[in-house]
Amino acid sequence: MTYNLAIIGFGTVGQGFAELLQEKRESLKNTYGLEFEVVAISDPIKGSIYENAGVNLKEILTLVKKEGKIDGYAGGIKGWDSIKTIEETNADIIAEATPTNLESGEPGLTHIRTALKRGKHVITTNKGPIALFYRELAQLAKDRGKSLGFEGTVLSGTPAINLSLLTLAGTNISEIIGIMNGTTNYILTQMDAGKDYSEALREAQRLGYAETKPDADVEGWDALAKIVILSNVLMGANLKVSDVEREGITGITPSNIKDAKGEHKRYKLIARAWKENGKVKAKVSPEKVDDGNILFHISGVGNAIQFKTDILGRVTIVGPGAGKRETGFALLNDLISIHRTPMGMKGV
Ligand code: HSE
Repeated sequence: MTYNLAIIGFGTVGQGFAELLQEKRESLKNTYGLEFEVVAISDPIKGSIYENAGVNLKEILTLVKKEGKIDGYAGGIKGWDSIKTIEETNADIIAEATPTNLESGEPGLTHIRTALKRGKHVITTNKGPIALFYRELAQLAKDRGKSLGFEGTVLSGTPAINLSLLTLAGTNISEIIGIMNGTTNYILTQMDAGKDYSEALREAQRLGYAETKPDADVEGWDALAKIVILSNVLMGANLKVSDVEREGITGITPSNIKDAKGEHKRYKLIARAWKENGKVKAKVSPEKVDDGNILFHISGVGNAIQFKTDILGRVTIVGPGAGKRETGFALLNDLISIHRTPMGMKGV
């Protein structure tokens, strides 16, 4: 089976995905019988190319690395914006990786709606549209018989969504607790080692962990989006962003960190969801955790989520929560899922 892919948004994540596609082309074919062409890339800054037989991905990746743009690519049609690319190219899977927006979900929301309405599968790492409009988008995908993959919206490629939807199917999840933001965990770990907050944030930006606007990380918005997604997808909730109490890490001082150390504790930005009188509630805030808690030991860009289930008790996953390849991998994994289960596997 050969798929035509369009990548909408060619920043860190879009490029990470393209690199993995390039690297794994042979093994995808040999292991899964999955073949693909990237027929279009559209990004308002990096440039846009459409070539219906497929672009030369290696050349595109070299160009963007060297020049920061893909406009110099020889061949193809240039300059199509995201909507024209989604609507008018021969892509049958849209990989949406534009910057997230937790107020309107745009531009990702319109990209995803348009693609599904056009009968295209969508794979996305964009938290805004899924946190704000999961039910509508999942229903739209179901109505059109298409797949909506969003593994990369929570914990990058660490399988937070698909693990729970597939392998924990049949259990009831009554509580979710975790460290769901790589940037803040990286900063807190660096501060614990005596480093300066701003320097640690700059480093997290350099490493490609931080959101376009780092306030989204340090003020807890990113973790909030993730706990909303998990609550709505895995606990049957219908939470809105405004339903969730939120506090970030900007109020945590070096002296707070030192005091916590004296108590054999560490500050972590914890996101949690639980059931109270039959309703799901959620919260994001810094908490001091002690060394008997697995979350104490999660350092750097590492993330962890613990699911409290009725059959297995607590199940914990630990893995990277951000990064170019790590998030690109989530798109690759969603692509493989579409190939394996063409009608999609996401519940509404
Ligand atoms: N900025 C996010 C983080 C990226 O640091 O976890 C992954 O969602």
